[in-house]
Amino acid sequence: MKRNEVIISQAEIDRQLSICDALRERIVTLPAQPLAMVDTYGCQQNEADSEQIRGMLRRMGYGFTEDEQEADVIVINTCAVREHAEMRVLGNVGALSHTKKKKPSQVICLCGCAMQEPHMAAKIKRSFRHVDMVFGPHALYRFPELLQEVLVQKNRVFETPDVAGYIAEGLPIARKGTLKAWVSIMYGCNNFCTYCIVPHVRGRERSRDPELILSEVRQLLAEGYKDITLLGQNVNSYGKDLGLNMDFADLLQQVNDLPGEFMLRFMTSHPKDASQKLFETMARCEKVAPQLHLPFQSGSSRVLKAMNRHYDREAYLDEIRRLRELIPDIVLTSDVIVGFPGETQEEFEETVTLIEEVRFDALFTFIYSPREGTPAATYPDPMPKEQKSKNFQKLLDTQNRISAEKHAEYVGKTLRVFVDGINTQDKTHNLTSRTDGGRLVHISGEESLIGTWQTAKIVKSSTWALFGEFV
Ligand code: SAH
Ligand code: SF4
Ligand code: F3S
Repeated sequence: MKRNEVIISQAEIDRQLSICDALRERIVTLPAQPLAMVDTYGCQQNEADSEQIRGMLRRMGYGFTEDEQEADVIVINTCAVREHAEMRVLGNVGALSHTKKKKPSQVICLCGCAMQEPHMAAKIKRSFRHVDMVFGPHALYRFPELLQEVLVQKNRVFETPDVAGYIAEGLPIARKGTLKAWVSIMYGCNNFCTYCIVPHVRGRERSRDPELILSEVRQLLAEGYKDITLLGQNVNSYGKDLGLNMDFADLLQQVNDLPGEFMLRFMTSHPKDASQKLFETMARCEKVAPQLHLPFQSGSSRVLKAMNRHYDREAYLDEIRRLRELIPDIVLTSDVIVGFPGETQEEFEETVTLIEEVRFDALFTFIYSPREGTPAATYPDPMPKEQKSKNFQKLLDTQNRISAEKHAEYVGKTLRVFVDGINTQDKTHNLTSRTDGGRLVHISGEESLIGTWQTAKIVKSSTWALFGEFV
């Protein structure tokens, strides 16, 4: 792909923005400000996309609501990674036919990864007549134009081009928080793990220009953001398509070197190209959080090969060893799949021994879900569902024990925390805070401390969190 075919031209972005402004002129003449609701499923990439959708809606003059009854425009940003995620979306969209009956002018839009799957878009078109608009990730920058077509021409719009993908710079962003911000550094994925739908719906890897990333972070820091997460499906591939002789570690160093007090995180990393250079850069950069999310997916080298992951058990364990040599207190989290087609009981046990060996701080555990169009969906899958569920439970129990033990090791320690919000879950601790490594610390104190770093003593722990006191 040539760079000028990947980057959406400034003229095209300006055209979309001028449609926002034209819609705004209509909207300001209405008796009351119309409201939009944006509901997001899936990963941080979708959260970041939703912030752009909200940014465009805000520019059009919409206010926001969480109440689907009063929304004039509803946008549901969907995920396709597992069947469960798709089913939830279909259930919720089905229920919206009732709200639309009460409010026929309501515009219902579906976007995101699940809409890029041909069978899902076809199903919406056929069976969900109350949905006005469907667009895939590659059409996101054209949302103003598509909404105009629904509002003005009263057409039903389906826009899911099957392309390698674009980079659209300069769209407005309405961020959810005031302290933490996502910054996309690349889009798409080239890895084609055999179970995964993401490369099929998000297109090929494409990296944003480093200068634009740096200026976005500079702007965020000027606005008072303190916690920056660089986002991509596989950030370790950053820069490969740029021809600038620059990789992810170089970008991390450059963001770290921006003036200001802030924490820098990133996700997700792929073990096959998490390099020693990256680990050394993390260890050296004082603003990079001592934290890494490094999905291993399986503890069996045979299964890893069948997954097309390009590393084996030993290589993964070796990586963790080298990382801990450089950053002994690193907080490690990971993703794992139970019941990949053909996984034997012995191979599953290798996953259990891997987590015992590594002792992750937390683990995201998934039961394999066949995705239409991926190679693994065609593999023989003899293990009964009940056995997969048993294995899943065993993995959860093992990890919960490890998480609780790791959290207990914090008790009695005094460390730096960043106070990041109000705690709605816990009556005795009114604030939430995070360790540098990102572990949650419940704590009580003045609300004015939100947005500052403080010293806390950890006094109690559970499987999921720590409890502290300011010192
Ligand atoms: N790009 C990231 C995350 C992708 S999706 C990465 O490679 O790490 C997040 C997680 O969902 C994956 O790490 C994997 O553990 C899980 N996942 C993806 N496809 C799945 C499937 N078909 N069934 C079950 N889990 C899946
Ligand atoms: Fe999916 Fe693998 Fe790409 Fe992650 S690296 S998004 S699991 S194909
Ligand atoms: Fe889901 Fe798409 Fe993210 S499939 S996990 S929302 S990239």
